[in-house]
Amino acid sequence: MTKAIGIVSIKGGVGKTTIASSLAVDLVNHYGKKVLLVDANYSAPNVGLHMDIVTPVKTIHDVLSGKARMLSAIHTRYGVDVIPGSYFFSKGIQSMKLKDRLASVKDNYDFVVIDSSPALNEETLSAMLASDHLFVVTTPDYPTLSCSLRAARLASQRGKSIDGIIINKIRNPEYEVTLDEIEDVLELPVVAKIPDDEGVLKSLFMRMPPSIYNRKSPFGKEINKLSAALTNQTEKMSWLKSFLFGFKREEVNRQVLKQGFYRSAFSS
Ligand SMILES: Nc1ncnc2c1ncn2[C@@H]1O[C@H](COP(=O)(O)OP(=O)(O)O)[C@@H](O)[C@H]1O
Ligand SMILES: [Mg+2]
Repeated sequence: MTKAIGIVSIKGGVGKTTIASSLAVDLVNHYGKKVLLVDANYSAPNVGLHMDIVTPVKTIHDVLSGKARMLSAIHTRYGVDVIPGSYFFSKGIQSMKLKDRLASVKDNYDFVVIDSSPALNEETLSAMLASDHLFVVTTPDYPTLSCSLRAARLASQRGKSIDGIIINKIRNPEYEVTLDEIEDVLELPVVAKIPDDEGVLKSLFMRMPPSIYNRKSPFGKEINKLSAALTNQTEKMSWLKSFLFGFKREEVNRQVLKQGFYRSAFSS
C-alpha cells in the first residue's frame, strides 16, 4: 500500500526540501521503490532546483488550478517521478485539493514524498492532510524548536499524528539543544540526526540530492538509515559499536517507527 510521507516544519531553511528530495532518490536508487516527489511549497517552490528540473513544463500550480492533470505534470529525474512547482505562479490555486488530486496517481507508487511550505497556513495544511505519515524537520536551536512545536500542534489539531522528528544541521552539540530536550518538548521520537555537512552545498550546486551525489556522506548515510526503516529493511550499523556503546536513541526509535509503519499496513 502506498505511503504518503510529508516533510514539514513551520520554518524555512531547516532542510525540508533537501531531505524530501534525498529521501525520494534514496528510496528509488538504493531500495528499488517507485516514488513520486511533490512540491507543496506553492509560494516558494524549489524542489525543481534540487532535482535539476529548471524549466518545468506543467507544474503543481497547473494541477491545482485545474489547467493540467497530475500525469502531465510528472517529470522523471534520477529515477524519481517529480511534480515540481512553478517559479512564476499566478494566484488562484486550490491548495486544499492536493489530497484529492494525488488520489488519481497515488496507487502507482510505493511512496509519495511531499515537500512543504514553512508558512502556518493552508499551504502547510494541504501537505499535512495529503500525507499518511508526517516528519517534522527541526534544527537544534530554541527558536526552531518553538516552530516545530507549532507544527506538531497544527497537525494534532487536524487529527494528524507525527511519526518522528528529524534533527538537521547538527553543528556543535555544546551549544545546541539535545535530543533529550527535543523529545521532551515535542513529546515525539527523534528518528534521524543529520550533521551539518558541507557536501550538501556542493550537491545543491550540482542540482543532485546528497543521497546520490555522495551516498556515503554524513547526510547521505543518515537518510539511508531512515529509508531502511521506511522500507522495512535492516539498517547498516556497526555491531561492534553497538556492542561496546549500546544502541543510539534514534536507532531504537527507527526500529519502533518501522514496526508502527508495517503494523499499520497490515491492519488497514
Ligand atoms: N545537513 C545540512 N548540512 C549543510 N547544509 C544543509 C543541510 N541541510 C540543508 N542544508 C542547506 O540549507 C539550505 C536550506 O535547505 P532547504 O532544504 O532549502 O530548507 P527548507 O526547505 O526547509 O527551506 C540549503 O542551502 C541546503 O543546501
Ligand atoms: Mg524548501
